[in-house]
Amino acid sequence: MSDRIKILAFETSCDDTSVAALEANPGDRIPRLLSLAVQSQDEVHLKYGGVVPELASRAHLRSLLPLMRKVITETGWDLAEVQAFAATSQPGLVGSLLVGQTAAKSLSFLYPGRFISCHHLESHLLSVFLEEDQPDFPFLAALVSGGHTSLYRVDGFDQFHLLGGTRDDAMGEAFDKAAKCLGLGFPGGAKLEELARAGDPTRFKFSAVKVDGLEFSFSGLKSQLARFAAKHSDPESRPHLAAGFQKALMDHLIEKIKRAAEESALTRLVVVGGVARNLELKSRCQNLLESGVLERIFVPRMEFCTDNAAMVGVRAYVKFLQSEFSDFEEGVSSTSRPAIRRKTQ
Ligand code: KG4
Ligand code: ZN
Repeated sequence: MSDRIKILAFETSCDDTSVAALEANPGDRIPRLLSLAVQSQDEVHLKYGGVVPELASRAHLRSLLPLMRKVITETGWDLAEVQAFAATSQPGLVGSLLVGQTAAKSLSFLYPGRFISCHHLESHLLSVFLEEDQPDFPFLAALVSGGHTSLYRVDGFDQFHLLGGTRDDAMGEAFDKAAKCLGLGFPGGAKLEELARAGDPTRFKFSAVKVDGLEFSFSGLKSQLARFAAKHSDPESRPHLAAGFQKALMDHLIEKIKRAAEESALTRLVVVGGVARNLELKSRCQNLLESGVLERIFVPRMEFCTDNAAMVGVRAYVKFLQSEFSDFEEGVSSTSRPAIRRKTQ
């Protein structure tokens, strides 16, 4: 039996089922990803225009064991040698979270490996450590996904301080709702980005969002888009509507990132979550480098931006090193319990 630390991780918080195997030598700061399997449920939810929780749980049940078999076959692991079985416990859809949690608990019940439950947002924030080019602490992080839009100050592998979040929709949710309004299907973030490429972002004047401090609000832009789209339903207007809407979302996000960087004096920015796949966002962040607001930007590759179990494995490894194991009584939660603290000063 090798003395390498082996972690098998599950992610089932929303509508992507994922299993990952990670391994580390004693003393390693970060584990190495050996195998990652992801099964999207886009096809399942497409016709409903959004994630249907009951269908999501059932689809996780169908996919989880085949994905686990794939990962175990690829790594050639003996489950008796796995030191930790990890799963996301919060926040997310309760039925979905239970599928991954039950798998990890059951394996930990049967084999010697410990059970570790992880906070989904903390996993996203550490996804950047799956890449070779890694930021030093502290850094500013923008987590932009379908469920969350928040800024954090990250001081260490387990020190996440919330600086501000959204008052209403998350940015990915705003992309998805806009895509639905323009008839692009679900999930629509990437489709809206593609449509926007052919549009003029100045053709429709979206009014700037005004929210105090480091908070966000996206629902007003969504209503503006609906009004413009009702008035301009011709196919020629669609790319311009998409481009104008995307620009307005980005203006809002970039303004807050700039403000957070200036207030915190942090010059390293990490961007994670599904919306971090957006190329316009990357180029707008690049402008912050050129204008001297930031010194470095780190965005993980696309497969690590959207929900995946590799990032759960990284979070679980940090907990493993600190002997932060979970017990079988631990449940799941749809909301974020105070694992992530709001910075007070
Ligand atoms: O992080 P993620 O996989 O799931 C959550 O935890 O929410 O993010 C999914 C979100 C969806 O709203 C999707 O439309 C959005 O990320 N997304 C994008 C792009 N690719 C995915 N939004 C804008 N542009 C993209 N290229
Ligand atoms: Zn996520």
